[in-house]
Amino acid sequence: MVYKAKKWIYARAFSGEPKLDDFRLEEETMPEIREGEFLARAEYLSVDPYMRIYILAYPVGSVMIGGQIAKVLESKNSDFPVGAYVFGQFGWRTYSICNPAGIEIRKPYVLPDFGSLSRSLGIGVLGTVGNSAYFGVLELCRPKKGETMVVSGAAGAVGSIAGQIGKIKGCSKVIGLAGTNEKCAWLKEIGFDNAINYRTDNVEQELKLAAPDGVDCYFDNVGGQISATVRKQMNVFGRIAVCGTISMYNNKPVLVEDPQRDYVWKQLVQEGFSVHRWTDRWFDGIDQNLKWIQQGQLKYRETITDGFENMPSAFIDMMRGGNIGKAIVRVL
Ligand SMILES: NC(=O)c1ccc[n+]([C@@H]2O[C@H](COP(=O)([O-])OP(=O)(O)OC[C@H]3O[C@@H](n4cnc5c(N)ncnc54)[C@H](OP(=O)(O)O)[C@@H]3O)[C@@H](O)[C@H]2O)c1
Repeated sequence: MVYKAKKWIYARAFSGEPKLDDFRLEEETMPEIREGEFLARAEYLSVDPYMRIYILAYPVGSVMIGGQIAKVLESKNSDFPVGAYVFGQFGWRTYSICNPAGIEIRKPYVLPDFGSLSRSLGIGVLGTVGNSAYFGVLELCRPKKGETMVVSGAAGAVGSIAGQIGKIKGCSKVIGLAGTNEKCAWLKEIGFDNAINYRTDNVEQELKLAAPDGVDCYFDNVGGQISATVRKQMNVFGRIAVCGTISMYNNKPVLVEDPQRDYVWKQLVQEGFSVHRWTDRWFDGIDQNLKWIQQGQLKYRETITDGFENMPSAFIDMMRGGNIGKAIVRVL
């Protein structure tokens, strides 16, 4: 069988916000697979903020980077049998050939059994996204019973899970920052105690009202001025997990008003992370998030765009805040 893959090329260097013209759709006839390889067809593809900055390490003309859930159609690798569904970092392409030998980070794997839940969760709450929230909260924020946690980018894929894990771990107050009233309303539905619309509300004032006793944990997805404002209201020995800085991905970093003395006076700990630090505990994170979903303690949402041809628009839309929960593209 001959397979014709479609693939999206990073065709023009990004300048500011990504634009449709920055991408080009190409076709490729897939070669025969060799010993150790498998060929898989994409079912769900992920569009993520990191793509905006990580692709800059690749030359223009490269296939766009990204993870996907795919079905193995042909295999010469017994760990990836025909019919299995896998997670793989195959890029924006409909058919991929992979030889897992030698891949260290973002290694492909056969999806664990999610029961009746959608396989798409493998690029969301039961994959990199859920694990970023799980390990970032538990290992870096280390919330204690009765504490107050703030999450920025709260209605997105990682943030919505991070805040709920804060509640599961006993925070008496979890406050989310998000960009629309609809997102704020959803955050309250899924158990956040408060939600602040950072685009229309005065974050400093609203945060003082929502967290009169100060903030103990901050799960930061956005960086910039919002984060400096949250840091001002942190308590002594507060912990900040820096998951991402999306407010600066499209632009050069801007100088923010940030009284750095608070790090000393309040003895704050701020630590950035890559979720791949916990590759050896990857399936522990997925198992625990799955259990919490099954027990009704963890809610998730997906914003699904249909059609591989819509990858660039889904990506651009996500970067602008068009998604609630995980942004996904479904191949029809
Ligand atoms: N460290 C890691 O290993 C790791 C792993 C996964 C993700 N991340 C990071 O985690 C963050 C969230 O990723 P995600 O996949 O969950 O994406 P997401 O939150 O689902 O989607 C991105 C969201 O960012 C918000 N946003 C866009 N521009 C913004 C701005 N200027 N200021 C504030 N918010 C802005 C938008 O929501 P609003 O409508 O609320 O603005 C948008 O919906 C990103 O920074 C990403 O790079 C890190």
